[in-house]
Amino acid sequence: MLKPNLGDRLELQIDSLSFPSGFGVGRSQQFVFFVPFSCPQDLLSVEVTKVKKNYAEAKILEILTPSPQRSEPPCPYYFNCGGCSLQHMQYDAQVFEKKKVLTSTLSKFLHRKIILNSFNPSEEPLRYRTRLQVYIKNQQVGFFQNRSKNHVPIKDCLLAKEKLTQAFPQLEDKRYNNKKIDLFIDEKEKVNFILNDHNLNTAHFQQANQSLNHRLKETIVNKIEHFTSEIETIYDLYCGSGNYSIELAKKFPNISVIGVDISKRLISKAQTQTKDLKNIQFIAKNISDFLTKENLKQNSMIVVNPPRTGLEKIVSLSLKKSSLKKLLYVSCNPSTLARDLIDLEDFSLTEIHGFDMFPQTMHMETVSFLCR
Ligand SMILES: C[S@@+](CC[C@H](N)C(=O)[O-])C[C@H]1O[C@@H](n2cnc3c(N)ncnc32)[C@H](O)[C@@H]1O
Repeated sequence: MLKPNLGDRLELQIDSLSFPSGFGVGRSQQFVFFVPFSCPQDLLSVEVTKVKKNYAEAKILEILTPSPQRSEPPCPYYFNCGGCSLQHMQYDAQVFEKKKVLTSTLSKFLHRKIILNSFNPSEEPLRYRTRLQVYIKNQQVGFFQNRSKNHVPIKDCLLAKEKLTQAFPQLEDKRYNNKKIDLFIDEKEKVNFILNDHNLNTAHFQQANQSLNHRLKETIVNKIEHFTSEIETIYDLYCGSGNYSIELAKKFPNISVIGVDISKRLISKAQTQTKDLKNIQFIAKNISDFLTKENLKQNSMIVVNPPRTGLEKIVSLSLKKSSLKKLLYVSCNPSTLARDLIDLEDFSLTEIHGFDMFPQTMHMETVSFLCR
């Protein structure tokens, strides 16, 4: 393995994509290189920009032979803004590479070959987002460049519904300066702004890609439908504003549904939306507190949908210790999912579905079914 020096120039063949950066991965003299904006099957001339013990990063000097997967990025901010990493690839190729990343991450951690039951592409590769987080600086709406504090002002984002970006001028105001703002389209198709102050109690969350969210909910409902005669209670842990719980309570009126989330704002929204539903209850609580104090009811099933960081150790431990037999794990991070599947070792993974909720980026959503 020959370690390169900063500024070295070399030819590199790109073989795959890395998660979650989306950088292309190539090897030269057995040393691993990560190259932003590259594509599997590219032959590149590159210059080394960073050298670490086991890998280096490089930038493209010239595309010697372009990959057949390449396409022209549709967004004028793409190489600057930091929000997307795959716009230079055709959408079919993005989906193919994401499936590969998902199966190889899980197979590597679990030491066995994982085969996906399905992988669902997005109907809309652009203009799919119904929520967006922006930062206002000098009265300009923008994003931060990848791994930097550079603010890139933008007038439009091709991932977002036009309705969201049409609201940008309302944020170009002194009172929003130096603030992070969450914008989202609500159930009444109205655009809302919320100041993001990193407070979990008041945090807002909704799935970003609504058409694929419907497909994901269908997958959860269809799976649970097989067990309705066996289960009396469904716990929806990390329930947000009841995205899954409300669907489940409506679909299965004889099952009692309990949703738990730390955000008081989201729980209160869920409660307002379900005043007429008799079989649903929402609790604003940290999941680790909830699981350590609550004896989970017999004949229950659990849906968990933690943030990107995955399950806390104490949560995995409580789930392992419980009498629980069936678990649906919705995850937006294959790496923390793989780690948690190892922690939940006495459950076996029997099904896994992928959802390309975030086209143009390496991110994806998965639904795994575990039982013991
Ligand atoms: C990926 S979101 C899922 C939300 C919901 N299932 C949905 O589909 O809209 C993760 C949720 O976990 C909540 N959360 C984060 N940490 C938590 C904790 N320690 N205890 C309880 N909820 C937490 C957040 O408020 C957020 O609503």
